[in-house]
Amino acid sequence: MQKFKEIVDRLQAKRAVSDEEYKILLQTKDEKKQAYLHKAAREVCQSIYGNGVFIRGLIEISNYCKNDCYYCGIRKSNHHVSRYHLNKEEILSACKQGYALGFKTFVMQGGEDGSYDDVLMVDIIKSIRTNYPDCAITLSLGEKSKDVYQKYFDAGANRYLLRHESVCENHYAKLHPSNMRIQDRVQCLWDLKEIGFQVGSGIMVGSPYQTLDHIVADIHFLEKLQPQMIGLGPYLPHKDTPFKDEKKGDVEMTINLLAILRLMHPQALIPSTTALATISNDGREKGILAGANVVMPNLSPVEHREAYSLYNNKANMNAEAAESLHLLEARLQAIGYTISYDRGDYKKEGEK
Ligand code: 5AD
Repeated sequence: MQKFKEIVDRLQAKRAVSDEEYKILLQTKDEKKQAYLHKAAREVCQSIYGNGVFIRGLIEISNYCKNDCYYCGIRKSNHHVSRYHLNKEEILSACKQGYALGFKTFVMQGGEDGSYDDVLMVDIIKSIRTNYPDCAITLSLGEKSKDVYQKYFDAGANRYLLRHESVCENHYAKLHPSNMRIQDRVQCLWDLKEIGFQVGSGIMVGSPYQTLDHIVADIHFLEKLQPQMIGLGPYLPHKDTPFKDEKKGDVEMTINLLAILRLMHPQALIPSTTALATISNDGREKGILAGANVVMPNLSPVEHREAYSLYNNKANMNAEAAESLHLLEARLQAIGYTISYDRGDYKKEGEK
């Protein structure tokens, strides 16, 4: 226990430990050790952001996707999906509803859907920017050219989420068809940063063929990238994908990784993700108690929520639903937290 505590303390002080030590932290299942790691992470987060948890309204704008990622339920080759995309009016109406509920960030997430050309997307972003000047606009729309990202930024978008999924070329290639390359993904992330977006990246924990070495490489990649946001969730199978029989990721390892990354990135905005809330009844709470400080309730039109199914049994109602913030508030209060209705931008080190 003493040795374990020393590793956690050193990670907190130096923001780095050895690769072998990362693996020890990742794998720990001992309750007392986990409690120590998670408490350290949570306290670091609280010292910067207090006990408020930021909320983001997640609008799943499209489940059309040109990509065929082996893990994802809305992959192009899945013909069992009923496909939809929201038009501009539907998106603006979701924002209107979200704003009335108190959201100050709108996240537009979707598959790589060619029907939103630059002109349309820019028009949508500009309209949200004009209607809600006090809100942050986050995009999660996959890989685009730097030129297109710049147009989105100039139109008023502030943040961009693009998980790198796995920085190791061989592992990335096991999760994606050969037309997708980790080099492209990484280039997109650097382009987004250079343009001035607050950038989010991350991985699925326990994705097929993932080893501890892969996760350690991902930890190092995030250390280099210094993203403002970090998204993590357990891998969860979807019945209509090539990975349907693969086993799901491990909750414990997911929250251990979350705590590690919190200690390395004290300022980061880290959501307790829907995948965490789906895998376990108290997954959302576990994430927050291990240093997460964001939740992203679902603000998509209710009639489309089932169709945006990246994995089976995805939680989208009750405390995961934007219209039920009182349920989320009650669950947060039960663990000593509360919803923060602030815009919740990234705080640079030393910033008040
Ligand atoms: N299980 C867990 N997470 C998934 N994602 C996609 N498919 C799955 C799955 N089957 C995650 C990816 C993607 C994010 C939007 O959702 O990491 O970046």
